[in-house]
Amino acid sequence: RSVGIGRAHAKAILLGEHAVVYGAAALALPVPQLTATASAGWSSPGRGADGGLSFTMTGSASRAVVTLASDGLRRLAAAFTERMGVTGGAHLDVILDGAIPPGRGLGSSAASSRAIVFALADLFGVELSEAAAFELVQTAENMTHGRASGVDAVAVGASGPLRFQAGRASELEVGGEGLFIIADSGTAGSTKEAVELLRESFTREAGAQQEFLARAARLVDEGQDALAEGALEELGSALDRYHELMRAVGLSTGRIDAMVEAARGAGSLGAKITGGGLGGCVLALTQPEQAGRVARHLHDAGAVQTWVVPLRRHAGHA
Ligand code: PMV
Repeated sequence: RSVGIGRAHAKAILLGEHAVVYGAAALALPVPQLTATASAGWSSPGRGADGGLSFTMTGSASRAVVTLASDGLRRLAAAFTERMGVTGGAHLDVILDGAIPPGRGLGSSAASSRAIVFALADLFGVELSEAAAFELVQTAENMTHGRASGVDAVAVGASGPLRFQAGRASELEVGGEGLFIIADSGTAGSTKEAVELLRESFTREAGAQQEFLARAARLVDEGQDALAEGALEELGSALDRYHELMRAVGLSTGRIDAMVEAARGAGSLGAKITGGGLGGCVLALTQPEQAGRVARHLHDAGAVQTWVVPLRRHAGHA
């Protein structure tokens, strides 16, 4: 094969972000309409004769993996060559395209890595198991985020809502006719910084970590039950309370708080920041009839773009 193609989609965290880093559970939702696509091809022979693979990255989404593009991508390649038994120097041109905005808690780095990993597997003609793909994407994620929980690495390849805890994922039951509006605040936040900020605040304040994790776990469990029963009011209430939790530890922003308020005022059943925080997106749950109004109010409060994700399973890519 002379060219390999790989794809992955964005994700949003429903409940449990940050707590999941400490081994608690999180619920995540695939965002299938936002995708990353990578193509990988051999470039002129003779380059990169250092015994491994080297890369040149181009494409509209290559900024999304700015960390990966340099040292990270080399280490990902090293992990890949070791795992796949690819030997000898080679240089690859990787083109990464897509529309997942980076730093918005939508999993752009994990989706880019997964797309690249599958493009390489396709190029090499190897069948990648989900476990092998997860491990490779995690290699890249750990370099971008410090120590990533792994929820993004799973969710960007998942075909429906999932629960993730301590490296294990399971499908979620979904009832009800709600939909989520994801609204981009237009400001990027660093997940790595957010994770460090929280860790520091936990070391300063005795008991803060246990309290955060206990509250988060309760909301995740409540949210999971509500989701299965199609109890949208209860699900919305869990989202509202998770936002307060994130706000209390300093992970929200003024613009995000204003957007959350605007969504609630426009009839959303519940709204919260989603992902690492310090910027990024708001996730608002709404009945289909209120969706237009909620989206308009989110834009009025400063959202630069919005996406709608219906609460149901979708046919995803493997
Ligand atoms: O901001 P994102 O999309 O990288 O969300 C990551 C979720 C965190 O729990 C904050 C980090 C993690 O590793 O799970």
